Amino acid sequence: MTGHLRLEAETGGYEAADAAQEAIADVYAALAELVGGEPGEIALFDNATHAWNAAFYSIPLGPDDRILTGRAEYGSNVLAYLQVAQRTGAEVVVVPDDEHGQLDPAALADRVDDRTKVIGVSHVPTSGGLVNPAAAIGRIARDAGALFLLDATQSVGQFPVDVGAIGCDLLTGTGRKFLRGPRGTGFMWVRSAALDRLDPFVAEIGSATWDGGRGFTWMDGARRFETWESSYVNLLGLGAAVRQALDLGLDAIGRRAIALGAQLRDGLDALPGVHTHDLGAERCAIVTASVEGVPAGEVAARLARASVNVTTTVAGHTQFDVRGVHPLVRLSPHYYNTEDELERALAVLRR
Ligand SMILES: Cc1ncc(COP(=O)(O)O)c(C=O)c1O
Repeated sequence: MTGHLRLEAETGGYEAADAAQEAIADVYAALAELVGGEPGEIALFDNATHAWNAAFYSIPLGPDDRILTGRAEYGSNVLAYLQVAQRTGAEVVVVPDDEHGQLDPAALADRVDDRTKVIGVSHVPTSGGLVNPAAAIGRIARDAGALFLLDATQSVGQFPVDVGAIGCDLLTGTGRKFLRGPRGTGFMWVRSAALDRLDPFVAEIGSATWDGGRGFTWMDGARRFETWESSYVNLLGLGAAVRQALDLGLDAIGRRAIALGAQLRDGLDALPGVHTHDLGAERCAIVTASVEGVPAGEVAARLARASVNVTTTVAGHTQFDVRGVHPLVRLSPHYYNTEDELERALAVLRR
């Protein structure tokens, strides 16, 4: 990233981009390899929210249509559902959880009908260690002929995520979380077969070409969702992060991250006055906890003073989570963390 920034400073933005053509093309190839798609099915964005917006706002919806989602849906997605419901008269249906606290596939199957245009699900929520049963949801979406939009922002880079195995039509992710890439990067994968069912939400010189009269033609594949201008410095950083994850291997990354999450969760549950709150039959490296009598923000601040970096969950970022437990302390170990670091975090919490 700093190399490309220097090249931009020394030779100019267009010149630097020309010189980096191959590396830029490899960002698409690397992301396609990461999720099991084709390079032409990848579109690049400046964050996962914009990638998700490009996907969701391109789904044609009308007054008789239904949007099905789950309790763990991400805050910005929920706001978009509400806006589009207001705008179009489409109905937003929140599918209940099963006894494990994950989206209940049986309840989803009950609610899917021919008015269901999209099933939008957060694979892993922003506010807990739940891993939603994406492949089971994919089977139901396919049977119903509904588009399946998977927000994989918290799962891509944390463990293997394969669009073929999951059976989604659209998937979005970010560079800055478990992929360990730079801030200001995001991406979308769209199944080629789903393109005809989408009406890209913005026509501009990056996504379409003028036909000389009053018409235009969309760019091939996923490029029709992109904008013309972007930060190649950031995109190259994203590409490097994805290549690094692929080199390390997502199986190995997933095994290690999830094992550290489980170890941390067990350690927290063993501390007096500390409770973990992660839902799901399958749980990942995001660990949420509360400490009796100490607000989450204060716990995070005290951990920060001991050089343990954590964050806190926000109720308004997970509107359909009706447990009333947020804010919680959110700890997110990744493969590079050591068992000793987890023990140190637990020791600070014990104190
Ligand atoms: C599930 C989920 N989706 C989307 C996002 C948004 O990602 P970005 O900040 O890259 O827009 C987040 C961020 O926390 C998230 O947790």
